[in-house]
This record gives sequence, structure tokens and C-alpha cells, in this order.
Amino acid sequence: MASLPDPIPGAPAAVAPTVGRPDPAEPQPVVGKPDQQAPEPVSPTGTPTGAPVRSRAQSGTTLTTSAGLPLRDTDHSLKAGARGPSLLQDHHLREKITHFDHERIPERVVHARGTGVHGSFVSYGAAAGLTRASFLAPDVETPVFVRFSTVLGSRGSADTVRDTRGFAVKFYTDEGVFDLVGNNMPVFFIQDGIKFPDVIHAAKPHPDREIPQAQSAHDTFWDFVSLHTEATHHVMWAMSDRGIPRSYRMMEGFGVHTFRLINADGETSLVKFHWKPVLGAHSLVWEEAQLLAGFDPDFHRRDLTDAITAGAYPQYELGVQVMPDTEDQLFEGIDLLDPTKMVPEELAPVQPIGRLTLTGNTTNFFAETEQVAFHLGNLVPGIDVTDDPLLQARLFSYVDTQLTRLGGPNFNQLPINRPHSPVNDMLRDGMHQTAVHEGVAPYQPNSLDGGVPFVTGTSGAGFIEAPQPVTGVKERSAPASFDDHFSQARLFWLSMSDVEQQHLVEAFVFELSKCYEKPIRQRELTVLANVDPDLVARVAAGLGMPVPDAQYQPATVQPSPALSQLGGSWPADGRVIGLLTGPGSSLVDVAAVQHALNDAGMTCLVIAPVGGELEADGVTVIVQRSLVTARSVELDALIISDGVADSPLDPRTQLMLGELFRHGKAIVGWGSAAEVLTAAGCPTEATGVVIASDAAGVAEPLQQALSQHRAWDRVPAAT
Ligand code: HEM
Repeated sequence: MASLPDPIPGAPAAVAPTVGRPDPAEPQPVVGKPDQQAPEPVSPTGTPTGAPVRSRAQSGTTLTTSAGLPLRDTDHSLKAGARGPSLLQDHHLREKITHFDHERIPERVVHARGTGVHGSFVSYGAAAGLTRASFLAPDVETPVFVRFSTVLGSRGSADTVRDTRGFAVKFYTDEGVFDLVGNNMPVFFIQDGIKFPDVIHAAKPHPDREIPQAQSAHDTFWDFVSLHTEATHHVMWAMSDRGIPRSYRMMEGFGVHTFRLINADGETSLVKFHWKPVLGAHSLVWEEAQLLAGFDPDFHRRDLTDAITAGAYPQYELGVQVMPDTEDQLFEGIDLLDPTKMVPEELAPVQPIGRLTLTGNTTNFFAETEQVAFHLGNLVPGIDVTDDPLLQARLFSYVDTQLTRLGGPNFNQLPINRPHSPVNDMLRDGMHQTAVHEGVAPYQPNSLDGGVPFVTGTSGAGFIEAPQPVTGVKERSAPASFDDHFSQARLFWLSMSDVEQQHLVEAFVFELSKCYEKPIRQRELTVLANVDPDLVARVAAGLGMPVPDAQYQPATVQPSPALSQLGGSWPADGRVIGLLTGPGSSLVDVAAVQHALNDAGMTCLVIAPVGGELEADGVTVIVQRSLVTARSVELDALIISDGVADSPLDPRTQLMLGELFRHGKAIVGWGSAAEVLTAAGCPTEATGVVIASDAAGVAEPLQQALSQHRAWDRVPAAT
């Protein structure tokens, strides 16, 4: 990857901002920043307009009303005398205040808190034999917009709460928009969409006092999931480290449902979609997540957008697990229509079919991230849905909610939602119509508009639902294959490493300890007894409650090593490294280390006792964090330079080192760094702690330690 710019994101602009209209020079309109992208300048009906790619809502440099009237003054309302009452006549005052009064739209009923970025997807062509979707043909590049989100919290809630994350991708293909609206967990709480309001009502804040915000650690959530045991598998994922990702850049994505692909010969196969981050899937530890919720509630949003600004473009591989389209839609005994079940990768390997690269931040959060509208029914020829009853309800829900959220039926005309291929629908009028339709015959068949628009018929270009036979009795029921609620929850538990199992136990203990009602805790312990005897014993011990009997014999299952996040080796691109300096540090060394790390694709933040600039020996170093603003949780690792005072050790340095050590993060230093570590009570011989002979020797062991994400043997595996 490219080396990172210097100075790093968040630094002041090169040219100091000015106030007032420059004279005599001609003022320039506002232009976007280099890291920003914007929706393509296509018309509401998908036609290229020829406008500049980043054409703006504003034009000119003079302040006007929304009707274009140039304004002489916008600071004083029109009054009857300087000290008199305001006049109703003041149309500018009324327009300004009225528009402001209506700036807010309803937040999403779920996934309200999110971050959107632009990018592109390049297909390897590996799926070309499975689907006729044009964007999956070899080497096709497709623009995308991606929105990552949490589920439970309101728009302003913290990023690092324990929750499922949304991973929604809008592909602007030449055959229309394809939306892959997934999560960072491959299974869901419910098997039938009719239960969605129930699970969300249970997980959202209590209706009487509207607490707690953005979390599941409360009575109503555990009341519901302990009664509704089909949620057990998803609950295991949510309580695991997957519930607190380190970064959106380091998070897997899953389409969850089984989809049906159709190739050019009309042959079908059943697939599950996966996104695999090139940086690996990594998580925070719980203490970090909690501290970050206060220290930097925007942690994930900032991490993603800073990485893009710095040129450390996040990448993910799209893959598919391919299963034969059999009549029973079962694979190795797993019901592919049950969204509480996944297919272990050992049974059906994930085959890579393309690469997503995120390259651009939004230009305007509201216009893009807030107004983007995903819909499971945004399909392209060659990709079809299945009869998964959760997916079926989703096909209805998204458009329905967007009618309210975006104020009418024309939200696909919003710039961020516009297809990049021609649109010729017969939908007309409605609130916020921005297209000016021509012709007189928006109906089919017609002769007055020459028959236009025509359907594709049997030409092969149009979308065709896979011709699946459907028979059945009208009934409200679920198949017997949906009855197994515990075997895959157990498979997940048994697939975790020791430290991941310990985190699961601690999460259950934390969440259930927050439940006031003892019967709810008891009931959930019975659920866990059905999953695994060791799991329930450890959670019960943490709660100080007796271990209940299981209702079912624990299933015999084969663990899936692919589910563990540990054991691999990953690049350090975009990792955030603190570089602690002190009064005795050589700035020549500090600057050299900072540049070496930035050149290696990491972001190196210089930390000093106070802010400002450090100057010595003809070298100037900008301080990015002082001891007041630095906190271990925003760092993946720390470098301690020579010359940091160890006696007395600043209590903030002591705190930072204690947290870094406890959280298993790499700590590398040179010179007197060993004394600083010793003063902070951190053993210098521990895994992931390296004292190099000089400044030039820190980068290599740092990258080595980061490739494992953490020094796992420093993170307690059992309490
Ligand atoms: C596999 C299960 C599900 C997954 C993976 C999923 C994923 C998502 C994601 C990623 C978003 C955020 C979209 C964005 O960024 O704008 C979202 C929003 C939403 N989801 Fe789901 N969801 C699931 C199940 C459901 C179900 C069963 C329903 C309803 C029956 C539902 C209703 C909604 C609604 C109403 C929104 C807000 C959409 C908007 O306002 O634009 N979801 N979902």
C-alpha cells in the first residue's frame, strides 16, 4: 500500500482558514477534500448528466435564499426599529428558521447508528459459471456504497457497544442496483420475520424509562431470548468477541440467508455470501470497548474514515459457499432455509469471487449515509432469493420503512440511491418527485408512446425468478428441521480457543448480572445447560447461582476451526501506533521511527507530556497526543522512545502501560524504555514486549507482534 501522508489525518490544513470575502481576488466555491467521494452525477432515472463528478449542491459564492435571491445580510431579522419586534414580513427569517425546524428525519428503526463510505468492487470472474450477473463476470469493476452499523443504538450512540454489526453493500451495476444487506454474524436471532418486532422491542431500551441505550445487558432482552431459544446460536455470537469488533476494517460480513444463483444456462445453485477482511477479523477486549464508549464514542467511524484519508484503503474479499440446489434444500443435514444455522467452512469452503476496496469518505453524511436506502429486493439477473421466512419478511420491510423514513415513494431518486443504469419505470408522481417524465402513457400495453417501455420478454436480458415448484397447505407453522436450537450454538462454543471461550463466559456473566429478575437469569442458565456443561458451570459460578440440569442431551458436533479469530497472521496496514516521547528523547530518532512506520502503512501518533511541537537538533516533530488526550484504547501498540522519564513515572503513562499490557498489545521500545516498563510494573520479558537496541530496531518486532493482533498469552484465558 501507499505510504501515509504526513501530517496524519486530523492535522490542521496547510493554509490557515480566512474570514470574510477576499478582496480583490475572486473567491472560490467550496470544494471537497481529496479523500471524499460523492454519488455519481446521474439523473434521477440513471442517465449520465455530464456534470462534474463532484458537482455540488451549492453554486456560486454569494449567499442566496433557496430561490436564488442574493442576500445582503443574514445576521439580523427585519424589525420595527433596531430594538423593536420582528416583522412577519421577514421571508428570509421565516425560510431560514422553517427549514432548520425540519432538518431532522426519523432515524432508522434499527441500525440507526452507521457509517457510510464509497468504494469499488472488482470481480475475479470465479462466479461466472454460477451466475449470469454481469457484475460478477471477469474483471468487471462496479462502484459501491457501503454502510456499516450497529443494530440497537440510536443515531448518537457509541460505536463500541456489544451488538451485531450491519454490513450493507450497494452495488451500482450495469443491470440495476444489487444490495447485499448483511451482518457481521452469519446467523440471526429468529427464523421467521414475523418475530422481528418482538426481538427488537425486547432488545431496545425499556419503554418506561428508555434505558439502557444501545445494549442487550438488560432484563427484556434476556427475558425474550431465554424464552425464545431459537435465538441461542446468535446470542453465542453476540456474546463472543464478534460482538465488539476492533474496527469495521477488521470485520467479516455475511449475507446470512441462502441465495439462489442462476447461470446463463438456467442452472441454479444455493449460496451463502461472505466478506473476508484482508486485515483479518479482530476484536476489542471488553474493557477497551467500555472505555472507548466514553473516550471516543465515534471510534469505529473515525477509524474507518481516518484510514481512508490516510490511504490505508480497507479491503474485503467476497466469497461464496456453494451448495447444490436440491429439492429438500438441505446440505449435510443443515436446513439452508433456516437463518439460525450456518454452513461450517470445513464442509463448504468459501470460494473468493471478487475484491471490495473502500476508497472514499462521504462528502455529506446526511445526503449519503443517512439517505441511502437498502432493499433485499434490489436484485440483478442471476441472483434470486430463497424461501427463507426471515428473508421473505425482509423483502417487504425495508421499502415499507423507507416510505416513512425518507418521506414518500421516490427515495430511489435520491443521488445516493440512483442506479447507474437506465431507469424506465412506470411509477409516477408522489412526494419529492424530481424526474420530469415525458410521454402520456405510463402504462402497459400502450400505443400512444409507441409502446415504450417494453419488457425484455424471452430475450434473456431481464430478471427471471428461478422457476421453483411451490406446493403446500396454507398454515402458520415451521418445519421440524427448524426445531434444533442448540447444536450449532454448541458447535460455535467448541470451536473457540480458550481465551475466546473465557470472553464468552465473561460476557454472559456481565450481561446476566445486569438483569434484575432472578428467574430470567435462571432460565438463561438452563438454555446454556442445553449448549454445554462447561459453559453453564462457568457462567453459573460467575453469577453465584446453582447449575441447572440440561433439558436435552448436548449434541455431538464437529468443531469448525474457521470460526476462531485466533491463530493466523495478518498485515499491520492502518494500525494505530503511539510513540511515547519524553524530555530526553532524540527527535532525530523519533522522526525516523515515525516515518518508518508511516512508510510501512501504519499511522504513528507522537505522544508527549504536553501538546504543540517538539524542536531540537534542527528537527521539528508535531505532537499528535499529549498525556491529557492520549489513552491506550485508541492504540494497537505503543513504542516507548529512549528518554521518557521513569522517576517518578507520570500516572497517566502508568495507566496507559497498565492497560496496554493487560490488553495484550505490543509494547516496543529502545534505550531507557526498559526502566519505564519496569517502573510501570510490566515485565519486559513478556510476549509482545520487545526492547530493541536502537530506534532502527523497533519496526520489525512491532510488525511481527501486530501480525498476531495481540499477545494472547497476556490476556487471561481463565479466571
Ligand atoms: C438476517 C437478518 C437481517 C440482517 C442481516 C439485517 C441487516 C440489516 C442492515 C445491515 C440494516 C442497515 C441498512 C443500512 O445501513 O441502511 C438493516 C436495517 C433494517 N432492517 Fe434488517 N436485517 C435483518 C433482519 C431484518 C428483519 C427480519 C427485518 C424485518 C422484518 C429487518 C428490518 C430492517 C429495517 C426496517 C431496517 C431499517 C432500514 C432503513 O430504514 O433503511 N431486518 N438491516
